Amino acid sequence: MRIVVLVSGTGSNLQAVIDAVQSGELGVEVAAVGADRPGTFGVERSAAAGIETFVVDFKSFEHREDWNAELTSKTAAYAPDYVVSSGFMRIVDQTFLDRFPGRYLNTHPALLPSFPGAHGVRDALAYGVKVTGCTVMIADAGVDTGPILAQTAVPVLADDTEESLHERIKVQERKLLIDTLRSLDTPT
Ligand code: GAR
Repeated sequence: MRIVVLVSGTGSNLQAVIDAVQSGELGVEVAAVGADRPGTFGVERSAAAGIETFVVDFKSFEHREDWNAELTSKTAAYAPDYVVSSGFMRIVDQTFLDRFPGRYLNTHPALLPSFPGAHGVRDALAYGVKVTGCTVMIADAGVDTGPILAQTAVPVLADDTEESLHERIKVQERKLLIDTLRSLDTPT
């Protein structure tokens, strides 16, 4: 099974996938890692691991649909069975989704449908929930919407900061992503 992983930032969840592949724990091939901006640590660490990388810089496109078209074609060039948004902080359009129907996965650091968006951990903490967690789902055109594949609950501790809570969630998120990838069949 071939996957392309899309990142916008540090790519620590991606690193866990790379480690699991290298140790033989996860039988997938990371065909490429793509980013929406230059200079991400996610791309840097992928290149260091010998994985092909590409950048489709959102800010260098005047029209969103042109960025989407380029992202779709760059991703499709690696013929992935699944595409994984792992901290990829951009919404893709229907062109992209139609190219990978039911095969675009997303991870989110909250128990969706609660606390979608770019600040899922901060929003859960601010609301005062006592349990939050992480979600892996099949992404659609919405913000952190789409059919849920798996979730793990994480308790919120009394002295949690956004950083401490996010780090504990990420420990579970990495396992959830790897377990979910392992459970997927290669599409025919
Ligand atoms: C992850 O926690 C991921 O769930 C989140 O960004 C983080 C990326 O961390 N994504 C979202 O919030 C999407 N709405 P990483 O770059 O260290 O893997």
